[in-house]
Amino acid sequence: MSTDIIRADGVTKRFGRFVAVDRIDYGLRENEVSGIIGSNGAGKSTLFNLLTGYCAPDEGVIHYRGQDITRVTPQERVARGITRTFQLTSAFDNLSVVDNLVLAFFRAHRQPSLLRLLINRRKRHRDAEQIGETLQTFGFDGIRDREVKRLGLGEKRRLEIAMAVLSEPKVLLLDEPLAGLAESEIKGVLDVLRRRRGLQAILIVEHKISHLQDLVQRLTVMHEGRIIADGTCEECLSDAAVRRSYWQIDVAAGREAVAP
Ligand SMILES: Nc1ncnc2c1ncn2[C@@H]1O[C@H](COP(=O)(O)OP(=O)(O)O)[C@@H](O)[C@H]1O
Ligand SMILES: [Mg+2]
Repeated sequence: MSTDIIRADGVTKRFGRFVAVDRIDYGLRENEVSGIIGSNGAGKSTLFNLLTGYCAPDEGVIHYRGQDITRVTPQERVARGITRTFQLTSAFDNLSVVDNLVLAFFRAHRQPSLLRLLINRRKRHRDAEQIGETLQTFGFDGIRDREVKRLGLGEKRRLEIAMAVLSEPKVLLLDEPLAGLAESEIKGVLDVLRRRRGLQAILIVEHKISHLQDLVQRLTVMHEGRIIADGTCEECLSDAAVRRSYWQIDVAAGREAVAP
């Protein structure tokens, strides 16, 4: 489909004889905010890795803006605008929030040299502005100089997203960005994602649907390597196959739980 910014056609990924992703067709539209949910082992992270280039499909093709990127490296995909968040490595632990953002900015924009940047004052100003804006948008104004190792998990998740966003991605992919977070931290992460709506396509992979309902425009449900439902959250939750296969689904508080 021409409106899909990134799409997988007939992708299969096997680990030995085990089929983790089984002939999946999946497309993400320009600027769409979409979610993929499914029980543990459904193949969500494997599909995520196929889209981001961290594993290659045994069968099938992946297109990005009409080009075949099936064999394109993860680094090259990032350069073309497909960015995933990463858990911060320990290397950045001793650096402050703002230093991490500056590093992410340099890395993304591939500045030929720091010297050139320093002598280009106008550009420097603009860069500083972008970092300043990011600090504000992501709620880091009060903790800009705090070392990463002193951040809470929710603040780290927000920093990971902020660093990804500085590369100005066309597609932003997040694998379980809410995992392990307390309710108040989840709200903070959802807030920053909400603020990114319409600025690029966003794909969020989560174990459970709770919290995604107010964020995503479209939901896809995976089960045993296949897509079993795709549509609005309501459509997916009322789908017979979802009710049958994905009975652990966690329906938002106040609603009837989906029984096995
Ligand atoms: N590198 C790997 N080697 C062998 N098996 C794997 C590997 N990665 C994933 N799997 C298996 O593939 C299935 C799907 O895994 P995954 O995509 O991580 O599921 P999900 O993210 O939905 O929990 C699981 O059964 C998992 O054990
Ligand atoms: Mg996973």
